Amino acid sequence: MNEVKKWTEERPSNIALIKYMGKKDKALNIPSNRSFSWTLDHLKSTVQLELYDGSEDRWEPLESDFPFELSQVGKDKFLNHLKRIKEHFKISEKFIVRSCNNFPSDCGIASSASSFAALTAASFKACGDLASQKIDHVEMAKMSARGSGSSCRSFWPGFVLWDEDTVGPVASDLGKLKHMVVIVGGEAKKVSSSEAHKKVESSLLFNGRTQRTETRLQLVLDNLNPQSWEKLYQVIWAEFWDMHVLFETSTPHFSYFTPETFRVLSLLRKFWETHADGPIVTMDAGPNVHLLWRADQEELGEEFYQSHLKGEWTVLSDFARIGFDRV
Ligand code: DP6
Repeated sequence: MNEVKKWTEERPSNIALIKYMGKKDKALNIPSNRSFSWTLDHLKSTVQLELYDGSEDRWEPLESDFPFELSQVGKDKFLNHLKRIKEHFKISEKFIVRSCNNFPSDCGIASSASSFAALTAASFKACGDLASQKIDHVEMAKMSARGSGSSCRSFWPGFVLWDEDTVGPVASDLGKLKHMVVIVGGEAKKVSSSEAHKKVESSLLFNGRTQRTETRLQLVLDNLNPQSWEKLYQVIWAEFWDMHVLFETSTPHFSYFTPETFRVLSLLRKFWETHADGPIVTMDAGPNVHLLWRADQEELGEEFYQSHLKGEWTVLSDFARIGFDRV
């Protein structure tokens, strides 16, 4: 009996601190501006490719603690990306593609970055094997951006910078950061980030966006050290508001904020005021609030969680004593 050929890869998600929002080229996912992220090692997707003798590639969920279904649009986007990679390697074999996340899909945590990174990695492994070709890590990340832009930043741990031509890690004096995401809305997104990239062009504030992100990116890169933590917090706070203001000033306007989002942001503002310290705060194209803490702020992070979040909101984190706390 022939052995079933399978390739499995896992990749983490990432949260952008300087956001990729707007594209110079929509077909190729060429970003309007450079973006900068922190890789979220604890939030991962797994993709498995199995060679089979069917006539088309097909997708199905991979068995896991958090099963989920992909919409037809989601399946098409996923399988189109596999097709692109097969063409690159000149491979015509057909695959069953299976995927899952290690977090629940109803939490509103974007899995696009981790799932496209894992799909790219598994496809490169399978096609590289079948075509007997070596894999170039940077080329693989750049190919991943064609499937979903933000996924190219998930190929390195820590801080990662993506610009039009290349993507790679950035060193810092900050050590390993700790992440928490406060789940304030579990609803499926009404406007996907891919649609948001198109819609923001209608905002009068989009003109000038590239310049603003470049200024902030330079400030962030110049201040990646513990002494400048508050400065980083200020710049990154301004950056996520800038993106959300683009959403609010598009025609027609749209928004991801809920009243709960405002509550969490206001608690964080007060926490910073009373402690003269706190986390870096950011938001993706969704209602949830992401917090990054330095390792030496672990107790401070737990204090914020115990006094403001526990029992009120679901929190996913890589804090040893908090982990995944579902409300
Ligand atoms: C708000 O990478 O999801 O998360 O390239 O169309 O798939 P596509 O978009 P996507 O956009 C991410 C937007 C963001 C900011 C960011 O991650 O930089």
